[in-house]
Amino acid sequence: MIKFNLDYITLNEVRLFLYKATGLYWEERGFDYLKIKIEIRMEATKKFSPREYLNFLRRDREEMQKLIDELTINETYFMREIDSVDVYLDKILRIDSVKKERIKIVSVGCSSGEEPYSIVILVYEKYPYLKNKLEIKALDIDSQMINKARKGVYGFYSLRSMDEKLVKRYFVEENKEYILDSRVKTIVDFYNLSIFDPKTKVLLKNSDLILSRNVLIYFGMESKRNAVELFYDSLVDNGYLILGKSESIFNVDNKFVMVHYPNVILYKKEVNNGG
Ligand SMILES: C[S@@+](CC[C@H](N)C(=O)[O-])C[C@H]1O[C@@H](n2cnc3c(N)ncnc32)[C@H](O)[C@@H]1O
Repeated sequence: MIKFNLDYITLNEVRLFLYKATGLYWEERGFDYLKIKIEIRMEATKKFSPREYLNFLRRDREEMQKLIDELTINETYFMREIDSVDVYLDKILRIDSVKKERIKIVSVGCSSGEEPYSIVILVYEKYPYLKNKLEIKALDIDSQMINKARKGVYGFYSLRSMDEKLVKRYFVEENKEYILDSRVKTIVDFYNLSIFDPKTKVLLKNSDLILSRNVLIYFGMESKRNAVELFYDSLVDNGYLILGKSESIFNVDNKFVMVHYPNVILYKKEVNNGG
């Protein structure tokens, strides 16, 4: 691979540009990673000077998407941190669903789809009678991940934490690939969107549950605050937010009420309707 003369000033400009567009923030200790990824794109686009590449990036929407696809960290797998979803289903949804005609769940930063698909599988397993009430949407800024999610074909590594019985029930194995059953696939609508795209606000509106797991950890403080505020405003009264286990919104929000269960915290938009 060609080594480019990427200086601090250019890196900083790309960082600010990306931050405004995506909310993703690179600390200086992450500059080596940023540098490698920009170099990959410089080589691919044959823009051999940092200035030339930066100008190209600024005016070419497609290039920005390609750089974002290169930069995002997409680690995910079926049934990851599933205990928080489990608690939500058992303690909240099972009871709330009696009085609801539809249940809207949105997975934000869904990567290649394992998270929203795991929810569908869990609902099928535990509360199959809720199937017709489910409206599940999922979004990610990375276009390649959304394409993969829509295909619903996975390697064994994605299924490593899933019970063997469930793998057999919901996947067909073909040449070491696992093809997701269409009963699950057709329930989820995927969107290639950033959290900060105005269309996301429309998509999230009136959600009963928003999952944003292992996404905010890559954000700067201001973006984190804006994202959490958006989630709060988008939820129905007494709706819930689920974050990743290692995430906290302690210093960015004081509106959500933390509801504690063993090993699980749910964030509630508590609204007293006087009832
Ligand atoms: C580490 S993965 C987490 C996947 C899944 N939520 C989980 O916990 O297994 C983080 C995902 O967030 C996405 N992401 C990062 N910034 C985003 C943004 N501004 N809008 C939407 N998705 C974003 C990345 O593309 C990546 O796929």
